Amino acid sequence: MAAFWNNLDLGSLNPFGKAEGYVAVDIGSSSVKMIEAAIEKDGYRLVSVGVLPLPPTAIQNNMVADKDAVVKAIQSLLQNNGVKATRAIAAVPGRVAIIKKIQLPAQGEEELAANVEFKASEVIPEALENVNLDYQVLDYLENGAKMDVLLVAVKKDILNSYTQVIRDAGLTPAIMDVDYFAMENMYEVSYGATSEGVVALLDIGARYTSINVLKQGVSAFTGDLPVGGEAFTEALVQALQVSPEQAEAFKVTGKLEAKKNGDLEKLLKPTVDHLAAEVARTLSLYRAMADEEAIHRIYLTGGAAKTTGLSKALADRLGVSVELAEPLRGFTLSKHLDREYLAESALALAVGAGLSIRRLGDK
Ligand SMILES: Nc1ncnc2c1ncn2[C@@H]1O[C@H](COP(=O)(O)OP(=O)(O)OP(=O)(O)O)[C@@H](O)[C@H]1O
Ligand SMILES: [Mg+2]
Repeated sequence: MAAFWNNLDLGSLNPFGKAEGYVAVDIGSSSVKMIEAAIEKDGYRLVSVGVLPLPPTAIQNNMVADKDAVVKAIQSLLQNNGVKATRAIAAVPGRVAIIKKIQLPAQGEEELAANVEFKASEVIPEALENVNLDYQVLDYLENGAKMDVLLVAVKKDILNSYTQVIRDAGLTPAIMDVDYFAMENMYEVSYGATSEGVVALLDIGARYTSINVLKQGVSAFTGDLPVGGEAFTEALVQALQVSPEQAEAFKVTGKLEAKKNGDLEKLLKPTVDHLAAEVARTLSLYRAMADEEAIHRIYLTGGAAKTTGLSKALADRLGVSVELAEPLRGFTLSKHLDREYLAESALALAVGAGLSIRRLGDK
């Protein structure tokens, strides 16, 4: 399992401890992704997968704004795929999580539980009554005299906006994670055996690009940029004076309505270059922090990872090799699953894949 991850403290959610199944629900700004995976003796198996679009108004300012639309999408995904699982594993976007690493004298679990709030109040720039707080011991240092502890806080109103739609859809929000950690988990499952050195994971979604630098598979730096697939579509709308639907279709298929003409790569280039420059700028903050360690590979995920010209622009700008990740390669596939559909949607399923194998008590 990943070196750290978080169960944002939701209290005891399944007091009877029935062995109900788990289903991962990744609520993105353009769609909801659902993944059900089984953990078997010899590895992970994908049981069901589905994606349904959300209206652009469903998620606003990193919160669920149109509850009904999201609840409906989750319910349809469960129904369409015959999902029996009742426990949901979900995530909040990393950009709403306040993540801090602190060092404490080594102490036992109970002592830490008693002390952690006080320590958190010193480093978390929010009143603690307004956040859900979680923590995890990362490492012991100085021959066990000290420990590194990761603190994660998420504002209650944001977290609740996600847990509420999960409840309204008939599921129990059993595990709430942060999408960075889900990405780290995805990497471990997909590339764990070969993971070495420093790699950066870039998840390019509809509205955001999230950046996660992993050192030996463990997150060492995270960041976010407010640029994603919508910005590419918008650029085409502006340049060609077409509708958002036409622009989206052109972006994804490369085909434009008969009367219009355009070189997709050229039209996208300014926005692509802007994103590449912003990624370079963000990664230079990491390099300044840990100067000896160069990033040796970048893995792209997210629906917009395939944007024409993007991999190349990133590789040119950063001087490292850039690859589309294979978020599902660590899973065997149940017989009934549509291979072609999975291949087509795999990049957008990266967060969901990482979430799908979380279980309570993993920590
Ligand atoms: N083949 C493709 N080429 C380029 N872009 C694509 C392609 N397929 C999908 N996209 C874009 O991917 C985006 C959706 O990606 P994804 O599902 O990862 O986002 P999200 O999780 O909903 O958003 P976010 O994580 O930002 O909240 C959309 O903007 C869509 O236009
Ligand atoms: Mg996303």
